[in-house]
Amino acid sequence: MPPAADAKAAIEAAYRARTRRSDALHREAAGLLPGGVARGITHYAPYPTYMEEGCGCRVTDADGNVYLDQLNNYGSMIHGHAHPAVVAALREQVGRGTDWGTPTQRQLVLARMIAERVPSVERIRFTNSGGEAVMYAVRAARAFTGRNRILRMEGSYHGGYDSVVASPGLAESIVAETLVAPYNDLETASRLIEAQRAQLAAVLVEPVSVRGMHAAEPGFLLGLREVTREAGVLLICDEVVTFRLAAGGAQSIFGITPDLTTFGKIIGGGLPVGAFGGRADIMDRFDPTRPDSAQHSGTFAGNAATMAAGIAALGLLTPAEIARINGLGDRLRSGIKGALDEAGVLARVTGLGSLVGIHLAERAGMHWLHLATLNHGLFMRAEGAFFLSTAMRDDEVAETVSTFRVALADTKPILHTGSPS
Ligand SMILES: Cc1ncc(COP(=O)(O)O)c(C=O)c1O
Repeated sequence: MPPAADAKAAIEAAYRARTRRSDALHREAAGLLPGGVARGITHYAPYPTYMEEGCGCRVTDADGNVYLDQLNNYGSMIHGHAHPAVVAALREQVGRGTDWGTPTQRQLVLARMIAERVPSVERIRFTNSGGEAVMYAVRAARAFTGRNRILRMEGSYHGGYDSVVASPGLAESIVAETLVAPYNDLETASRLIEAQRAQLAAVLVEPVSVRGMHAAEPGFLLGLREVTREAGVLLICDEVVTFRLAAGGAQSIFGITPDLTTFGKIIGGGLPVGAFGGRADIMDRFDPTRPDSAQHSGTFAGNAATMAAGIAALGLLTPAEIARINGLGDRLRSGIKGALDEAGVLARVTGLGSLVGIHLAERAGMHWLHLATLNHGLFMRAEGAFFLSTAMRDDEVAETVSTFRVALADTKPILHTGSPS
């Protein structure tokens, strides 16, 4: 066998040998859940690992293998798993009930915590997911401006809402209302905004395009802010992931004041959550006492369990902790780049703060590198990304790099090598 085929066979055989129970569960799931998964993104070949437990920065799979968790449920577990303070807050709340179909004091507490950190948030509402938050932010923009179209960035991810995805199953009319510009291309975006200003309700942008962990280039977000303001188009900043990067969110790092912001992930302490907020004059379109109020609902939006976990998690996420894990991210980026360079693997390492992305020149190689990292006890995003948690210290960064190095050695015959970029 050629060395690459050999290496692939060895990596897959090792994966299969370690994860027999996951294989059996996946076979069972295949007859019940499309593709055998409850959530499309969790699928990878030959079958996904079934995780069953988590504590701090470690997760345990159905076969009892333990992994250092650098996925953290795509960034929602900012404090790792089962943080004692979050568990205690949840326990206490669950014992007293979780929802009464009324406002609660806890909603007020979490709303205030977010608004105090993010000055652009004058009003806020909770949702059950980040995707839902995006949907309502777009609705707010449409209600406020009376226009239909939105502009989003290519390669960005904003969840499952029809207006922000490219997928079969969308009404043609919806597709026609969404314009797309390349990320970090201010010139193209500005041209579109200018040309479409009469129809354009909002521009939707992530401060870090989380799918590839590409941070906004200097001037991109500020430029968008300027152009949208001049054109009378709203700017929606999607901070579902990037709120972790600074107490005031990534908008405070890039120095922009968006009209609306979407939140999710970390603000729910690991439970389902989302929120959207921003300028009072826009958000007040949802005031139910208005005769023309815009609709916002959700049986579980703002439920007390999510609020309790979110309050505990945000309370733990002090500016010092944010700075600490951002520093860990910097060290991880340079450690991973060093390992790739040493191995002579052509790759780029991207990201900002506690968000880290890996891009192999040989893109198909990532599948094998991912399986190889699993084989050695490291759990990362299958496309090559890390979301650090406060449950980690320098030791875990060193462990991530050393495990990555070992996995890279397994994968090397599969990857194109050359001089480091
Ligand atoms: C930037 C961004 N926006 C929105 C979403 C959607 O959030 P949710 O999965 O909670 O619907 C995600 C999810 O990963 C995201 O990364």
